[in-house]
Amino acid sequence: MQTRNLVGGRWIGADDGAEFEIDNPATGEVIARVPSCGASETRRAIEAAAAALPEWRALTAYERAAPLKRLAELMLRDRDRLARLMTLEQGKPLAESAGEIAYAASFIEWAAAEAVRVCGETIPASRADKRIVVLRQPVGVTAAITPWNFPSAMVTRKLGPALACGCTMVVKPAEQTPLSALALGELAAEAGVRAGVLNIVTGEPGVIAGEIMTNPVVRKVSFTGSTEVGKILMKQAAHHVVRLSLELGGHAPFIVFDDADVHAAVAGAMASKFRNAGQTCICPNRVLVQRGVYGEFVRRLAAAVAALRVGPGDEEGVQVGPLIDEPGVRKVEEHLGDAMARGGRARVEGGRVRPRPGLTDRFFKPALVEGLSDDMLMNRQETFGPVLGVREFTDEREAIELANDSRYGLASYFYTRDAARLLRVAEALEYGIVGANDATPSTAQAPFGGVKESGFGREGGTYAMEEYLETKYVAWGGLT
Ligand code: SIN
Repeated sequence: MQTRNLVGGRWIGADDGAEFEIDNPATGEVIARVPSCGASETRRAIEAAAAALPEWRALTAYERAAPLKRLAELMLRDRDRLARLMTLEQGKPLAESAGEIAYAASFIEWAAAEAVRVCGETIPASRADKRIVVLRQPVGVTAAITPWNFPSAMVTRKLGPALACGCTMVVKPAEQTPLSALALGELAAEAGVRAGVLNIVTGEPGVIAGEIMTNPVVRKVSFTGSTEVGKILMKQAAHHVVRLSLELGGHAPFIVFDDADVHAAVAGAMASKFRNAGQTCICPNRVLVQRGVYGEFVRRLAAAVAALRVGPGDEEGVQVGPLIDEPGVRKVEEHLGDAMARGGRARVEGGRVRPRPGLTDRFFKPALVEGLSDDMLMNRQETFGPVLGVREFTDEREAIELANDSRYGLASYFYTRDAARLLRVAEALEYGIVGANDATPSTAQAPFGGVKESGFGREGGTYAMEEYLETKYVAWGGLT
């Protein structure tokens, strides 16, 4: 297990030798100690990325694509090992971790293939002696600040397009789950990604992010995390007018119309909500069900929620692992307690549990609450846990009003069999992602990102490449 930081092709500790502990959220055991780096180590990582940039961006796209393709292959070769590591530090069930490794590798693979399709343009000029030439060039040194809920995929979703476009990168993984990112760093070196092209620094988040945001060498930062932190980064980015992509909080509505396939809607709600114990930015927080199918939908959903198996992620058959840490559990408890105090009805009772002696009490038995109302915390904020609120609506207009009544705008879902409604509702929802009869929209080739306070910028597909490219206009005259 790699526990040191990657700077300029060397594996280093913090200058003062300081370390912090990583624990297994299922057992509370300390599984590793990693460097607690600060501003000076981060500065050196940025300098290493700057030193590697001229050579990396001068390579042909084919030459850059080759080590990236190899990296994706190595991730799949080591899928079981990487999945075990992810479950150890993050807690999600092993099958989900293995799924995430394949998902993470797909971002690298897709970007590698796309590297050779980054094209400029010539535009007809209005004078015969002129040419208008548009160049697409790498932004330069970039940084990624990534979350703990998808410790591998949120790194590769940024790293793949950045490197494919000819940028170099400094990654700051979440302090709860740095081991998956460090393992990626090792595989990148094995794949032939040159020293300094990828650098990884762990430590105090505010200090590392502070250096990243205020160092003028960094030209682009991509962040996935909370809206609150995103707002701080936006202010810091103003120092040097740094380009930003922000994938922030979500608060997804999940709408079921009377004409929906109820079986499919229940399966979709379960797959989307309880993945990663509900710790997903795009998972539904609010289920809105039309009156005609309310009874049937809630009955089926309640049965499925009650049957979920909670336990450590490395145990066969477990579907819901532990939450990441104590503050995470407390937030879910607060949302559930608030809903009950405001008139919610527990259709499936849930709450904090310790599945057996020797495990932590960071596990949460999934809950389903009926009577979701406007004033409830879970109706206004992202819960980030396995608790789901449901309410009834009468018509399409009401459903759209309820769904759009949020400061967030990342993902939304609806189920219907009416073709006209499919387009109408998709157009009306104020969200960056709309799952229309599809609760699992994430995929490497599609644009992932939000509107409103869920952020801006897109990851995935050609849209992700745009984030790491500058557009340069060359006005070419004197061509007589
Ligand atoms: C996220 O929670 O931000 C990522 C979810 C996904 O990629 O599906």
